[in-house]
Amino acid sequence: MTDFPRFPPGFVFGAATASYQIEGAAHEDGRGPSIWDTYSHTPGLVANGDTGDIACDHYHRYPEDVALLRELGVDSYRFSIAWPRIVPAGSGAVNPKGLDFYARLVDELLAAGIEPAVTLYHWDLPQALEDRGGWRVRETAERFAEYTAVVAEHLADRVPRWITLNEPWCSAFLGYSVGRHAPGAREGRGALAAAHHLLVGHGLAVQALRAAGVREAGITLNLDRNLPATGSAADRAAVVRADTQHNLVWTEPLLAGRYPDTEEETWGELISGQDFRRDGDPALIGQPLDFLGINYYRPTVVADAPYREADPARRTATDNRYAEVRLEGVRHTAMEWPVVPDSLTDLLVALKERYGEALPPIHITENGSAEHDEPSADGTVHDRDRVAYLRDHLTALKSALDAGVDVRGYYVWSLLDNFEWALGYGKRFGIVRVDYDTLRRTPKDSYHWYRALIAAQRR
Ligand code: FCB
Repeated sequence: MTDFPRFPPGFVFGAATASYQIEGAAHEDGRGPSIWDTYSHTPGLVANGDTGDIACDHYHRYPEDVALLRELGVDSYRFSIAWPRIVPAGSGAVNPKGLDFYARLVDELLAAGIEPAVTLYHWDLPQALEDRGGWRVRETAERFAEYTAVVAEHLADRVPRWITLNEPWCSAFLGYSVGRHAPGAREGRGALAAAHHLLVGHGLAVQALRAAGVREAGITLNLDRNLPATGSAADRAAVVRADTQHNLVWTEPLLAGRYPDTEEETWGELISGQDFRRDGDPALIGQPLDFLGINYYRPTVVADAPYREADPARRTATDNRYAEVRLEGVRHTAMEWPVVPDSLTDLLVALKERYGEALPPIHITENGSAEHDEPSADGTVHDRDRVAYLRDHLTALKSALDAGVDVRGYYVWSLLDNFEWALGYGKRFGIVRVDYDTLRRTPKDSYHWYRALIAAQRR
């Protein structure tokens, strides 16, 4: 018998997905275009020219996917709502067919005994809002709150757990600074403004969720465990800048009601005299949360480095005088991400040490791995590496609980192989294989392993 880590009674086991990565039906039932439609249809931006037009066709096959979840035995399913299905032009008219789709999905989940956990923004911004400035402008945060109010009004009675934003670091910095996510911009102040407006949007959305009487409101961050390449003072200072860009820019306003005191050493002139910050924003952003969602995949090793761009006027917000260094001596996944489960424990313990009582209960809202899956003739995948990854990370998570961190749930990323953003369909994170020619779903060994782990908790 496999020895599974044991979690306290009531601990939530789940699986996660996101709208643009699985739904497809890009032009159906009144859905408007999103920045990811535009980005993926721009030649050369996504590997293999892949788009989310069809994806896993979850929009039509959701009953089959809910049946897979029921069979898996999860307590909760985390999915995201496509804003452009609900408000196709980003503001103004609401599309009843979009609301109907999610109402049907929620009812199907509840009938299967699974609690829905909704993410309101997993990166598919209505294109019409990007055309008016996107997250660079405060108006987008206001539209986000309106959309949130519409969705909450329809689903608050049936959805207990609500996540405002998924990984705002990716939205702000991959989207507006690195340019490797939609909308593909490479900016300095624009990206810092986007980061701020995402936080403002979160604060306004929390107000809308409270007004609708939801049980739990929170946000999901991809916090990084940044490790110095060497013990040198310069590399340790590089870690501070990396921590500021990846972690503190979110956790300080959200959990401590202030901006990071290391922002000037990180961004220099880019951050000075920020006209997009308003009085009252820290209180709005720092409203109490019922939980903090954390997505965790890997640690990052950083070393001191010069600016990549010598001309300050052309510098982006992620050009912070550090470089990522490959961690040797450990296995790497198909994403080339190092596998270091202990760093999940360390990240959580360090977070608790820093924020103490101000740290809300935690849900790990994503964790999983892309592997070089090789299906056998019947379509099954013996994904031993993924099983080992999940087992070792759940064990590391249990160590964090034992060390006193209040972790309430864990969601595997992902239920299905899906559209992995700029990397397209080539990177497979699913515990269920999707054959993209037939759209057939086949549970992998990791699915069966996770099912057994969940079942073992209840014995
Ligand atoms: C996270 C995203 C998720 C998925 C995983 C692999 O950054 O939230 O959509 O792409 O990475």
